[in-house]
Amino acid sequence: MNTPDQRPAADRQAPLLEARDVSRLFAIRGSGGLFRPARMQRAVDGVSVVVHPGEVVALVGESGSGKTTLGRMLLGLTAPSSGSILYRGTDIRTLPADAARRFRREVQVVFQDSGGSLNPRHPIARAIALPLQYNRGLDAAAIAHEVDALLDQVGLPPAHFRHRLPHELSGGQRQRVGIARALASQPAVIIADEPVSALDVSVRAQILRLMADLRRDRGLAYLFITHDLGVVRALADRVVVMTGGKVVESGDADTVLDRPAHAYTRQLLAATPVPDPRRQWEATTDTASA
Ligand SMILES: Nc1ncnc2c1ncn2[C@@H]1O[C@H](COP(=O)(O)OP(=O)(O)O)[C@@H](O)[C@H]1O
Ligand SMILES: [Mg+2]
Repeated sequence: MNTPDQRPAADRQAPLLEARDVSRLFAIRGSGGLFRPARMQRAVDGVSVVVHPGEVVALVGESGSGKTTLGRMLLGLTAPSSGSILYRGTDIRTLPADAARRFRREVQVVFQDSGGSLNPRHPIARAIALPLQYNRGLDAAAIAHEVDALLDQVGLPPAHFRHRLPHELSGGQRQRVGIARALASQPAVIIADEPVSALDVSVRAQILRLMADLRRDRGLAYLFITHDLGVVRALADRVVVMTGGKVVESGDADTVLDRPAHAYTRQLLAATPVPDPRRQWEATTDTASA
């Protein structure tokens, strides 16, 4: 058959992002000495995770279970001690220069406190403009136009917000800036590491709504890292449950939440204060946007 798709086969069929049997060891602080080797801790231990284009995968587990370390490995910020990270089917260590650039552009991150990483002396327009300059090589007029469009998309009216400094914004508004900055690179997937954990419940619902809308409008994929199962049902297609650096359960979101197979998942569910996350989320969002 004749196919117009000239990309390599791996590009068409492979998952967007994949961790294949990755582990990461860290030296336990204070454990080493002059004649004593440091004791090592497995922050991540033989984990495999796949994110397909347009898919939302929730990575859940209590604090210290290795979620952030796995996220950083998927971003190429932390090297695995063993195993590999694949981007569109290719080990990120062997990506040719142009594919490596595409990887850095297409795989973006939103942190718990994106505001904390904004330069306090620079208006927020500048933070959003940087990736437009570096990743997309736009000129000044195109950048100004695009910054306004991005602010608009994340619900910050540009005329009111473009010249604001980070400290003039609320936590939720700063998180919107963090999302706009990630979007500026035209990502295919966003690693969202506890993106709403630091926010009030009502603001949390608004940011989740924004992320869901962006996913719908842009076909974005997320690896959504959270310790809160209350947000998972509303957003996730699949859930991966981690504890002690290992995956103990993974599968379709509804299945994992309704019929958890592992005792640890049942414990997490029991600790979640929201009885019906989906209904709760919608109710909160409706009042918040009214
Ligand atoms: N840079 C580091 N140096 C030493 N230990 C680390 C480092 N990063 C994470 N760890 C340890 O690895 C484990 C997993 O941490 P992390 O990935 O942050 O988990 P989570 O995001 O699920 O809370 C923790 O015990 C943490 O102390
Ligand atoms: Mg973390």
